[in-house]
Amino acid sequence: MYLCSFMGSDKGMVYVTRKLHFNAAHKLYNPNWSKEKNTEIFGKCANEYWHGHNFDLFITVKGIPNPETGYVIDLKVLKDLVEEKVIRKLDHRNLNLDVDFMQGKMASIENLAKAIWEELYPYINAGELYCVKLYETPRQWVSYYGK
Ligand code: NI
Repeated sequence: MYLCSFMGSDKGMVYVTRKLHFNAAHKLYNPNWSKEKNTEIFGKCANEYWHGHNFDLFITVKGIPNPETGYVIDLKVLKDLVEEKVIRKLDHRNLNLDVDFMQGKMASIENLAKAIWEELYPYINAGELYCVKLYETPRQWVSYYGK
């Protein structure tokens, strides 16, 4: 890892982002509640026969550009990592049933963004993971900064 030369400061930090895409199905349904309460709280999202979204995922890494490459992180390396660790497990899957890192969690975009962060964070070996931004629709998204 190329270490920050201005310890304790964000001076010189650059934030680089890779956008990725996946399609997945889910439902919002709390098994501890009645069907009526699930419908009351989640509306159409509680439909027992699932529904799908075209998700857009923005992964941002922060760091000081390496003087030899000019890169914070090689964006091809970042793309391959995100595809291997999360997209491969999410694309054309059912978030409630198919995805190992979503087991036992409500399949909301809040929880999905946090889970994606946990899956990626240990593997970012240049710069540091800064933000996972997840769009469920063009008008609805969440951002997670790991704290
Ligand atoms: Ni939904």
